[in-house]
Amino acid sequence: LTHEINSRSPIGVFDSGIGGLTVLKEIYRYLPAENVIYLGDTARVPYGPRPLEEVKKFVLEISGFLHAQGVKLIVIACNTGTAAGLQSVAKLLPVPVIGVIDPGAKAAVNTTKTGRIGVIGTAGTINSKSYDAAIKKIDKNIEIVSAACPIFVEYVEKGETDSPELVDLAKFHLAQLIDSKVDTLILGCTHYPLIKDLISEAMGKEVSIISSAEETAKEIARLGLSATGAAANGKSRFLATADPEDFKLKGSRFLGRAIETVEHLSIEDLSGSILEIPADIESLVE
Ligand code: DGL
Repeated sequence: LTHEINSRSPIGVFDSGIGGLTVLKEIYRYLPAENVIYLGDTARVPYGPRPLEEVKKFVLEISGFLHAQGVKLIVIACNTGTAAGLQSVAKLLPVPVIGVIDPGAKAAVNTTKTGRIGVIGTAGTINSKSYDAAIKKIDKNIEIVSAACPIFVEYVEKGETDSPELVDLAKFHLAQLIDSKVDTLILGCTHYPLIKDLISEAMGKEVSIISSAEETAKEIARLGLSATGAAANGKSRFLATADPEDFKLKGSRFLGRAIETVEHLSIEDLSGSILEIPADIESLVE
C-alpha cells in the first residue's frame, strides 16, 4: 500500500447507489471534519433482489478498491451489502470495516420496552436474517418480526415520498408488523429514512423508529478514529459506476445538499480490485 494511513485519511463509504448518502448525511452531522470517499455502484443497483453471493462479490471488489485508496475505515453504507459481505471484508482487510446492521440492531435493543422489534428492508437483507442474528447476539429473548418492502425503494428513487398511493402501500406492507404490536421498528434499508414520517404515521406514533443510517454515524464517532484538530469541514470525493450527472441530480436529495463533482469509475476498474479469499480461510459464510 502506497498511502500512509492517519487520522486525516479519508473514510471510504459505499453503497449500491445513492441510498448510502443517507448514511453520509449522518456522518456529516456527527463527524463534520472527516474526509470521505463515497462510491455508489449505480451501474449495478439495486442489490436488494440479487443473490447474496453476487452482492458479496461486489462488496469484495469495492472494499478492495477503497482500501487501495488509503482509507482509514470502510463503511458498508448498504444494508444488503452489509448482510452479504461485512464478515468477509472485515476478515480480509487490516483497516476497520463497519456495516449498518449492528448499529441499528443495538439501538433497537436499547429502545424496545416490550421486547418485540420489527425490521424492514430489501428482500436480500430480510432473507439473510442478518438483523435477527445481530439482535439475538445482544438479547436472545427478543421477538423479531420482519418484512421485505422492496417497493419503497422504487418510490423513493423516483422521488415519490408522500403520495396517497405510497401511504396505502405502506399500510399494506406494514400490516403484519402493526398487528404484531412491535414497539420499535428498524429502517433496515438506506432509502427508508426519506419516508420515515410516512412509515411512522402508518405504524402509529407510539412505535419508535430506528434509523440504521444515524446509528452507524454514531458508531463511527465511538470508534475514536476521528480526524482531530481540524476546525474546517472535511472534503468528500464522489465516484459512481454509472452516469455521474444522474448521481449528482438524484444524490443531492438523499444527501440534503448539492453535490459538486462526481467522477465516473468503470466496473472493469473495480473488478481488478477484488479481494481474494485465501484458500486457508475455509469458510467465510456470512
Ligand atoms: N442500499 C440498499 C440497502 O440498503 C437498497 C437499494 C438496493 O437494493 O440496492 O439495502
